[in-house]
Amino acid sequence: MKLHPVEVLSREEHGRHVLLRYRWTGAAPEPGQFVMVRPERHADLDPFLPRPLFAHDYDGDTMNLLFEVRGRGTALLAGEDAGLLVSTPLGRGFEIGGGAAVALIGGGVWVSPLKLLSRHLQDAGVDHDVYLEVPGDAPEAYADFLRTRYEGATLVETGGESDPSQTVLDHVGDPARYAALYASGTAAMLGAVKRAADGVVPAHLALRERMACANGSCYGCAVPVWEAGEKTYGRTCVEGPVFEAEVLAW
Ligand SMILES: Cc1cc2nc3c(=O)[nH]c(=O)nc-3n(C[C@H](O)[C@H](O)[C@H](O)COP(=O)(O)OP(=O)(O)OC[C@H]3O[C@@H](n4cnc5c(N)ncnc54)[C@H](O)[C@@H]3O)c2cc1C
Ligand code: FES
Repeated sequence: MKLHPVEVLSREEHGRHVLLRYRWTGAAPEPGQFVMVRPERHADLDPFLPRPLFAHDYDGDTMNLLFEVRGRGTALLAGEDAGLLVSTPLGRGFEIGGGAAVALIGGGVWVSPLKLLSRHLQDAGVDHDVYLEVPGDAPEAYADFLRTRYEGATLVETGGESDPSQTVLDHVGDPARYAALYASGTAAMLGAVKRAADGVVPAHLALRERMACANGSCYGCAVPVWEAGEKTYGRTCVEGPVFEAEVLAW
């Protein structure tokens, strides 16, 4: 996979999250697509795989990534003086239909791809409600960031309950009042959205299976899917990361 050096414009910390902006005038990302990213100065550290991150926002000139610092890779990407190597946008993103209102649902701290989706829905004139979980252990700075970044969104604080996904879905209400659900989040949240939407409304789920090659050759990111009534596997990096809920054989 070809990685391109890019000019980093800014890095902002919001609790454990970093909003990273870089100049990008290559192929425009579709909502739900991701890029593979690695720090430039660690190019000699082999093996050091690039990390997959969703396109968080894009205005035709500047790409935004929003990520939580989890381990070594994301800590290096958050580093103040680290140059960046990035791929073009990859994978299959969210399908956007026209017409009736839709709901965007973010679970855990995995809300990143919903921003670009919201922008495209707005451009397409599709009304949408946004519901975002704020886990009890998330820093206040992260919640503040969500409030300004996702203006008008319903923020749902969770913590302590046995099923936080259901707490968020309680705010969404009857899924039938929406033409589609779009979700990004924990496996528990994606499973809950799939069950709530089943037979009621189409649901589009953004998966985050761990990746290696990101070009379809290693099958490390495969998930069980239904194809012509048979259970088979779909690669998150090529057939996803967005899958229709009814296709996933969970
Ligand atoms: C298509 C796709 C898009 C993604 N987009 C985003 C994004 O926009 N923002 C964001 O914060 N993260 C995103 N992720 C997850 C991100 O890629 C991982 O958090 C990152 O690769 C961790 O790298 P690391 O070296 O910092 O952590 P590691 O040292 O590799 O791992 C640290 C911890 O994170 C866990 N972890 C690693 N990868 C994942 C994963 N894919 N899902 C869940 N847990 C993981 C590990 O199990 C471990 O507990 C995305 C993943 C995929 C597959
Ligand atoms: S990461 Fe190798 S096939 Fe998807």
